[in-house]
Amino acid sequence: MKIPKLQIGTITADIPIVQGAMGVRVSLSSLASAVAEEGGIGTISSIGLGDIEASKREYEKMSREALEREIHKAKTMTNGHIAVNFMGALSNADDLITTAVREGIKIIVYGAGLPIKLPDLVKDSSVNLLPIVSSARVAELILRAWDRRYKRTADAIVLEGPLAGGHLGFSEEQLNQPEKYSLDNLLPEVLETVKAYEDRYGKKIPVITAGGIFNGKDIARMLSLGASGVQMATRFVCTEECDASQEFKQSYLDVKEEDIVIIKSPVGMPGRAIQNKFLLDLEIKGKFKIKCPYRCLSACKVDEARYCIALALLNSYYGNVDQGLIFCGQNAYRIDKIVTVKEIISELLAELEAA
Ligand SMILES: Cc1cc2nc3c(=O)[nH]c(=O)nc-3n(C[C@H](O)[C@H](O)[C@H](O)COP(=O)(O)O)c2cc1C
Repeated sequence: MKIPKLQIGTITADIPIVQGAMGVRVSLSSLASAVAEEGGIGTISSIGLGDIEASKREYEKMSREALEREIHKAKTMTNGHIAVNFMGALSNADDLITTAVREGIKIIVYGAGLPIKLPDLVKDSSVNLLPIVSSARVAELILRAWDRRYKRTADAIVLEGPLAGGHLGFSEEQLNQPEKYSLDNLLPEVLETVKAYEDRYGKKIPVITAGGIFNGKDIARMLSLGASGVQMATRFVCTEECDASQEFKQSYLDVKEEDIVIIKSPVGMPGRAIQNKFLLDLEIKGKFKIKCPYRCLSACKVDEARYCIALALLNSYYGNVDQGLIFCGQNAYRIDKIVTVKEIISELLAELEAA
C-alpha cells in the first residue's frame, strides 16, 4: 500500500498520522516536534500549564507564557506541522486559543466540550479547525451550528472511540458495550454526516480516527474503512522524546491489561487510567484534600470532587506516580520498550505498506 498523505484544509502532512494531545504536559514541544519532523502532525497539549496553587491572574499568565514557550520551542525543532489541543472544560480555553493563533498555529484540535463559538474566536480562515467527536450526532451538532452561525465548516473531524486514553466522550454504560460503539461502527455514520457538509462547502472534510490504534495494520484498516488518517497517543508515550517523566513511561511498561481501568473524573466524564497506589488510596480514603484558588477546569465540581485532577496528573507527569493519576489508552499494556519516535513511525509505515 502506498502511504497516503493527510490533507487538512491548508495543510498537507506527508503521512496520515496525528499524534494525539496528552495533558497534563505529557505532549509538549519535544514529542510534538519529533512527530512533525517525521512527517506526521505533532500536537502540543495546552492543558495544565499553570501552577494550580496560583491565583486566577497568575495562573492564566503562566499558562499563556508556557504555551507561547512550547510553540516557540517546537518551531525551532521542526518545520513540520504542529497542532495545539484545547479542552472545552478549561476555564482559560479562549485565552489559550487566541494565544496559539497569535503564535501562528495553523491546526486547532478541540475536545471535551462543544466548540460552538470556535470559528468566532479564530477568525483567521487559514487556521484549520478540528473538533473531536465521539458520535455522528455530536459531529452534526457542531457542523450544523457552524454552518448556520458562521457559514464555515470543519477542516477535519477527529472521531475518538471508546478505547482511547484520558477523558472519554462515552457514558460508562456505553463503555460496557465496546462492540456497539467501536470505531468500525461509528465511522460510517460520521462519514455520512460529514458528506452533506462536504457537498455544501465543495471541500473534503477528512475524518481522523482515534482510540486503540496500535500498529500499521490498524492504520490500514481505518484507511480502508474511509478514514483519511489516524490519531495515536498511547503508542507515543514510551518514546525518548515524550515529555513525561521516566516513571510515567515505566508505568506503561509495567501495566497489565487487567490493570487498565475506567475512572470517574471530577470533570464529570469517565476516563481511562492505570490502576495504581493513588487510585487504591483514593478508594480507601474516599477523598483527598483540595486547594483550588483558581478553578482551572470550569466543568470540575470542586465541592464534590474527591481529588484535584490537575494535581494528580501533574504528580504523575513529574514522576510522583504513587500520588498521581496516569491516563492511558486501552492498548498501553502492549508496549514493552522505550524507543524513538523515528523508530515507531518507521515501524508503523513498514506495517502499513505491508498491509
Ligand atoms: C496520557 C493521555 C492524556 C490525554 N490527554 C488528552 C488531552 O489533554 N486532550 C485530548 O483531547 N485528548 C487527550 N488524550 C486522548 C488522546 O489525544 C488520543 O485521542 C487517544 O488517546 C487516542 O487513543 P490511543 O491513546 O489509544 O492512541 C489523552 C490520552 C492519553 C493517553
